Amino acid sequence: MKEMLDNASRDGYAVMAVNSINIEMARAVIEAANEEHSPIIVQLGKGQMAKHAHPDEVVPMIIRLAEKVDVPVCLNLDHGPDFDTEVAAIHRGFTNVMIDASSLPFEENVRRTRMVVDLAHAKGVSVEAELGHVGMAADGDGRTADMYTNVEQAVEFVKLTGVDALAVAIGTAQGKYPEGFVPKLDFDRLAELKAALNMPLVLHGGSGSGEENIRKAVAGGINKINVYTDVSKVAGQAMMERWEQEPGTDFLNIMAAVEAAIKKYVKNYIHIIGSNDRYTFDFADNGSKE
Ligand code: 13P
Ligand code: ZN
Repeated sequence: MKEMLDNASRDGYAVMAVNSINIEMARAVIEAANEEHSPIIVQLGKGQMAKHAHPDEVVPMIIRLAEKVDVPVCLNLDHGPDFDTEVAAIHRGFTNVMIDASSLPFEENVRRTRMVVDLAHAKGVSVEAELGHVGMAADGDGRTADMYTNVEQAVEFVKLTGVDALAVAIGTAQGKYPEGFVPKLDFDRLAELKAALNMPLVLHGGSGSGEENIRKAVAGGINKINVYTDVSKVAGQAMMERWEQEPGTDFLNIMAAVEAAIKKYVKNYIHIIGSNDRYTFDFADNGSKE
């Protein structure tokens, strides 16, 4: 992921990172990126792997899907909570791991992140960490500055840990916002963070943020945007619509509708954050993409 996001940071765009819990989601996301010549990040959280996307089954599938396309695909451990989960993910073939110790004191966040960086880098895997804390929309988090990322601390944190990408808290929250609520992002803080760090920055809680906020965040230096809730909503809506169109329709038809809807959503998002057409391929050698 480091190379992917360093390119994005240098050229001023962002890469979408979608939590993809089954084949319809993973295939839709990866194929959307391939058709748009865009890099893409597929990610899984610990809870998602425990509840549904069991990594023994899902990780080989994602790796196979990634091998079939021409664009770079990163498999990221989302919000890794502890060292054991990080080690397991690295062994399974994740190409980036996030260590989230953002709810712990600064020194402990540094200590845990540094440990993961040492291990992951030795295995050629890059690392995302979080400073400040991006909370949950359902708890009303993200609306006051007390959890936002402090600029001086961020500089210190990166120096002490050697992380490859930093998730910053600038006003978004994860999950579903109340109806009609659009978060207000601290773009001044984002500008200060980017100027001070000059490295890939990550926005969590990409759902429900509004297109204008997302465009401004990318222009301000965000290079990875995590999205799950909105993709899940798109999938659920497609499912309902297909059923209403033809009550009792075959399950396969429902899954096909879900996959098509996710793919359309991701393709549009890729254009909003500007990662389309970043990878073009020269087929001149042998006329094939093999
Ligand atoms: P949303 O579900 O709000 O899009 O947040 C996703 C996220 O931050 C995953 O790490
Ligand atoms: Zn998140």
